Amino acid sequence: MSMVIDDVVARETRHVLQTYRRSAVTFVRGEGVRLWDAEGREYLDLLSGIGVAALGHAHPALARAITDQAQTLLHTSNLFYHPYQGQLAERLANLSGLERAFFCNSGTEAVEACLKFARRYWHTRGEPRAEFIALEESFHGRTFGSLSVTSDEHYRAPFEPLLPTVKFVPVNDPNAMKAAVTTSTAAIIAEPVQGEGGIRPLTPAFANAISEAASKTGALVIADEVQSGLGRTGFPFYFAALGLKPQLVAVGKALGGGVPIGATLVSQEVADTIKFGDHGSTYGGNLLACRAALCVLDELVRGGLIAHIARVGRHVEQQLKSIAARHPIVKEVRGVGLMWGLELDRDAAGVVPAALQQGVIVNRTAEKVVRLLPPLVITQAEADEALGRLDAALGAFGAQA
Ligand SMILES: Cc1ncc(COP(=O)(O)O)c(C=O)c1O
Repeated sequence: MSMVIDDVVARETRHVLQTYRRSAVTFVRGEGVRLWDAEGREYLDLLSGIGVAALGHAHPALARAITDQAQTLLHTSNLFYHPYQGQLAERLANLSGLERAFFCNSGTEAVEACLKFARRYWHTRGEPRAEFIALEESFHGRTFGSLSVTSDEHYRAPFEPLLPTVKFVPVNDPNAMKAAVTTSTAAIIAEPVQGEGGIRPLTPAFANAISEAASKTGALVIADEVQSGLGRTGFPFYFAALGLKPQLVAVGKALGGGVPIGATLVSQEVADTIKFGDHGSTYGGNLLACRAALCVLDELVRGGLIAHIARVGRHVEQQLKSIAARHPIVKEVRGVGLMWGLELDRDAAGVVPAALQQGVIVNRTAEKVVRLLPPLVITQAEADEALGRLDAALGAFGAQA
């Protein structure tokens, strides 16, 4: 390790709470889909800070918007109006079809608000329903509510007891979903494409079972689009591609392009049950975060990014399938748009350092899955270059494993 890395690691090891096992790289600069480390080595980024840097790194329009806002006014709290929150809520309503937005600072907070608003809806109707139906392999965040609907025992066990009123259903099993939902169910929560669980798109038949069960019992539907939303799949939101009609949608990650912001989008029917003071956030939707998000949505909608994602995504799919055909350790390629997982026949942890060695950034999730969430602006040529490096990394990993 170099001096720079040694120094950074030593200081962190003494003073930063050790909740993340980091790769031994210090990134100091980025441009588009490329990052550079402290030694000047260049990398292609197929992870975008876990699905966040939607416009790539150091995007000129985003940098301008943030700089301009920082030099004007950062934060005034939700006790006052400012010009951008309403604009952002309106744009999100146009994209999602859900009339109203509540702003927060992260994905887990967006999910937390979904759960609270679902409970509030039933409380207001004088029929308090407590139960949530969630999916196996789900991930919704780390706060108590969102952790309660996250299935992974590894995340849950040290913090129990969690909410006792959650039932988990196997993914893409329509009959299990129909059997689980009753008139005690407040809401069904699902990621339209499961992310941390290993990149698993819901099937249309399963989405249909969710809709049927919900309309039969009155249960609300919560779509967690924190990872899959805002164009990542080649659709503004993947729930619409599945024919789901959620009353609540959680958004985060890409929304601020790197500036922390989350949003809970709700239907008018749910909004009508929520009163002043029911929920809040000191930072939520401040001027800086809203300016950043407006810039991301500008690029996404007016800049034609969604069509670009669908196009490049189809190319990436073909390339990944031919990579899989060359590497017998790859068992399955799953995903849509620019959200992909390569499931290996073994633990994929060693692919991450092998990829860094080749100058490409990927991530391992659900133990055996190599996850790709590139910046949404990635071009076909950049994707080819990055996938060439991944191909070499898989070769090196397969040879030593
Ligand atoms: C689907 C989904 N929901 C919620 C979260 C939590 O988001 P955050 O880490 O911003 O709290 C994540 C994070 O990976 C996610 O993928």
